[in-house]
Amino acid sequence: MRLLMILLLSVSIKARHIEKECKGIVVNDILQKEEILKAHVISPYQLAMDYDTNTLFFSYSTEDSSVFQSAYLNLKTNEFGNIPGIAGGFANAVDNKKNTVYLGGRDGIYEFNYNTKTAQRLNVTDDNIWQLIYKDKLYYSKYPEEHAYVFQNGKFQRVPELINTRAMLLCVDDYNNIYFSNSSGLFIHKKSNDAVNHIGDFNVNGFTYDVHGDIYFSTPDGIFSIDVAKKEVKNVAKIENVSVYGVAIDITGNIIYASEDSIIRLKPTEKICPTDVATVTFY
Ligand SMILES: *[C@@H]1O[C@H](CO)[C@@H](O)[C@H](O)[C@H]1NC(C)=O
Ligand SMILES: *[C@@H]1O[C@H](CO)[C@@H](O)[C@H](O)[C@H]1NC(C)=O
Ligand SMILES: *[C@@H]1O[C@H](CO)[C@@H](O)[C@H](O)[C@H]1NC(C)=O
Repeated sequence: MRLLMILLLSVSIKARHIEKECKGIVVNDILQKEEILKAHVISPYQLAMDYDTNTLFFSYSTEDSSVFQSAYLNLKTNEFGNIPGIAGGFANAVDNKKNTVYLGGRDGIYEFNYNTKTAQRLNVTDDNIWQLIYKDKLYYSKYPEEHAYVFQNGKFQRVPELINTRAMLLCVDDYNNIYFSNSSGLFIHKKSNDAVNHIGDFNVNGFTYDVHGDIYFSTPDGIFSIDVAKKEVKNVAKIENVSVYGVAIDITGNIIYASEDSIIRLKPTEKICPTDVATVTFY
């Protein structure tokens, strides 16, 4: 009887021990620690990395919350700054080949000037920009219409493949398949057969590319990757108890995410925590 008690006791202690060790966010079976890169920013959205300068661009809401502000955070020096010269800065994209940073506002697209740390308006569109993303070409979506545009042949035009649909956020893979989201979920337009398929009911709030060009996106519940070859969406990080507003991947592959009031980087600890990972396959 005494032996049994001791055994039971040791089992429960052991169980509790494991539970404690593995409490938190797990990525690739490794427990992460959270590093707050920037606190006290309201609703940071649309994160984009410039890998050349190791600078993160994002937008957030100002006190009266109706005005959006573009900002940068240098991950090497921790230098943070608001970017002046832009009307309602909301969208951010980086051409990592030409090292050009594009910012989107209420009245069009701007380019970031690293010397003056200001935004300079490009006279290319007057549209109210919701999202900007760069993949070989510059893409944007327009609010509130949810129409997608691409810069080609010297001007912006509607993305031909998305002319009949709403697209709030989009990104493009190496095979020119287009992933896009609207209030009905996440969809893929396949280049090979010009067809649109529903991937899942993901409430996407940001797409991003890592330094290798792999695609990630965020929803309020976590971070997902798209494996283009396997045609699979993988929930790489489940984030509980806070709402996720956006995602970027730093140059070493660590996840950076925005919560309602901070920007946080996940860094691996030594602790192994085998975790079931949800996946969705698509066609
Ligand atoms: C989330 O909150 C619940 C309830 O407070 C808690 O039990 C759980 O451990 C928390 N999860 C994380 C990852 O912090
Ligand atoms: C901006 O573009 C419009 C249309 O292409 C043109 O009419 C206008 O002169 C341009 N403005 C400036 C300041 O370049
Ligand atoms: C979202 O896009 C899909 C695919 O094009 C379309 O069927 C659906 O109607 C769109 N949702 C809305 C709310 O427009």
